[in-house]
Amino acid sequence: MPADVPVTAKMRLGFADKTLALENASAIADAGADGLAVHARTKVEGYKPPAHWEWIARIREAIDIPVTANGEVWDYQDYLKCREVSGCDDVMIGRGLIASPDLGLLINSHNRGEEFEPMSWPCMLSVLEDYLERVVVQMAPKYVHGRLKQWLKMMQRRYPQAEQMLQEMRTLKEVGKCEIFAGV
Ligand SMILES: Cc1cc2nc3c(=O)[nH]c(=O)nc-3n(C[C@H](O)[C@H](O)[C@H](O)COP(=O)(O)O)c2cc1C
Repeated sequence: MPADVPVTAKMRLGFADKTLALENASAIADAGADGLAVHARTKVEGYKPPAHWEWIARIREAIDIPVTANGEVWDYQDYLKCREVSGCDDVMIGRGLIASPDLGLLINSHNRGEEFEPMSWPCMLSVLEDYLERVVVQMAPKYVHGRLKQWLKMMQRRYPQAEQMLQEMRTLKEVGKCEIFAGV
């Protein structure tokens, strides 16, 4: 790996428990990683809330490389709280961005004190439509349904219209662009 290419790592707090979290983070730093993202849950905790952001603070204090906080950030309040508790400047967001694709823009706008226009459902629909077009050419028809449902399920947190779309999809065997977006 060329020396000018940064190599970063990501870890959870452990597998079944958190006893090796600090040791594992130190091993990653000692091995020469340029940065470490920490998903603040064990493997056994899966995706169950809460994310233990206070453990990220412990890790950040134990190592000398930049640490990025990750886990359970769904909106701007979570982002602020995560930064406060973890002490990290940088936050990595997974599912929050799937549910609210404009979350990164929202955070940046709020941080700059600028007005923010949230992404409307019609705008989101055109993104979904684009996604569906890509999925349809890449996957067998029987899998298309599942992919779209996965996204809509997460989107329900933010857009009630996603729930309605899911209900409509239950009656379809295969999702075709025309069927699902008809009448929207
Ligand atoms: C669809 C999806 C795909 C993911 N793929 C990866 C991956 O390839 N590598 C990885 O380290 N984590 C992966 N993750 C985990 C996320 O990076 C993140 O650690 C986790 O979702 C917790 O953050 P969140 O609470 O913001 O979602 C994935 C998560 C989701 C939802």
